[in-house]
Amino acid sequence: MTIDETPRGPGSGAESPGMQRSRTTARDLERYAGLFARRTQGMKSSAMRDLMAITARPEVISLAGGLPDTSLFPAEDMAALMARVAADASAKALQYGPTDGMEELKECIVRVMAEEGMDVGTDELLITTGGQQVIDLVCKTLIDPGDVIVAEGPTYPGAVPTFGAYEADVVQVEMDRDGMRIDLLEETLERLERAGRAPKFIYTVPTFQNPAGVTMSLERRRRLVQIAAEREILVLEDNPYGLLRYEGDALPPLYALDGGEYVIYLGTFSKILSAGLRLGWTAAPRPVLEKLNLGKQGTDLCSSTFTQHFVVEYFAQREWRDMLAVLRNHYRRRRDAMLDALEEHFPPEAEWTRPGGGLFIWATLPDYIDTTDLLARALREHVAFVPGRAAFLDGRGGSSMRLNFSGVGEDDLREGVYRIGKVIAEQVRLYSTLTGQDPGASRRSPPAAEPPADTPSARVLPLRRRAGGER
Ligand SMILES: Cc1ncc(COP(=O)(O)O)c(C=O)c1O
Repeated sequence: MTIDETPRGPGSGAESPGMQRSRTTARDLERYAGLFARRTQGMKSSAMRDLMAITARPEVISLAGGLPDTSLFPAEDMAALMARVAADASAKALQYGPTDGMEELKECIVRVMAEEGMDVGTDELLITTGGQQVIDLVCKTLIDPGDVIVAEGPTYPGAVPTFGAYEADVVQVEMDRDGMRIDLLEETLERLERAGRAPKFIYTVPTFQNPAGVTMSLERRRRLVQIAAEREILVLEDNPYGLLRYEGDALPPLYALDGGEYVIYLGTFSKILSAGLRLGWTAAPRPVLEKLNLGKQGTDLCSSTFTQHFVVEYFAQREWRDMLAVLRNHYRRRRDAMLDALEEHFPPEAEWTRPGGGLFIWATLPDYIDTTDLLARALREHVAFVPGRAAFLDGRGGSSMRLNFSGVGEDDLREGVYRIGKVIAEQVRLYSTLTGQDPGASRRSPPAAEPPADTPSARVLPLRRRAGGER
């Protein structure tokens, strides 16, 4: 069963009369099929987008989104700032703006990037419609059909449809708790070279990765930028979560280590301020930036001038780091609540990451459990997660899931994990009935010693347990 096939019978609340009318029928498809460009065959709906319609139902506890908790932003404050933009700058805020964005906003971005140790000039920035647009523009600028992109396995599920739409050949490199395995990356690059191919870029979320929650070690970061320079390959560093750190010391972003030679940096206001603003940015080598700018002109001329003015006002009137501190406090507690709940409600055979920041935990179940099937069962219990396959382009990840801990409060997090644990326990029992094997206790026992290297999860994200864990 796919996510799209989730039961939506009468009374499920999943479908409004409007949706019914807009449902594409087989006849419609036939009528238009010959008109579509070939690239549309590679376009697939993002699993998270599909899920959003279902998870918007109030009775569903969604651990599926990557949603910041916007209720943490003081509403009156937002209203006051909006009113000020409308009163003081309405003629400009309601007008088109330059494609590369407002200079004053770029100055705010310089401050945000400096917070993570990056030194960037305003002329090295392009403001975009969310970070998502950077991924799209980088593909639009660099990818011809069949070109190779190297990405982490698992990778950001929202990038999967973009890579597909540009008909890229995506090669995914395994990760462990220290991020992308750079030894395997080198093997991959050599293999590709022998086949006469070089990737157009390497896509990575090195810090508090979405979906895995792991962070690339300093040693690997250094080696990655070295490889990029040696082989003259661009790296797209996607960093929405670097400032959402709940413990430990920050590691330098790839952009800081490389000095802006081969790294295209992606930043966003979505997770530190608001996703509804739809504002992100890229810092890139100038020739690349110019092409990205041309690509953006054709896409949307410029990003919302109104929200750009809003952010400038926000930075002028408020201490932006205060909001960050609020978010960190809440999300740290939610992460801990989810980790405790996983310990309590997931079976002993399950493994999961322990992120030091960001919004996600990646859990892997025994390989006889398919998380896409499990999602359909979980939805009947009114709880949702993202099945692991959404983070792979080659069908892997079938026993894994991404769990988000930022979007709902601690009680709902615990209840959500409990409900998922319940449907997992049913599957474990079913398996044991069918095979006669003892699935083990349904409650988690104290952490076992290292799992054998060839456990099913090792194929998607090996998690060697260390004394004290990653936290
Ligand atoms: C890794 C990563 N990249 C990019 C994005 C896109 O973010 P936005 O377009 O809201 O800036 C997200 C959103 O969740 C993300 O997790």
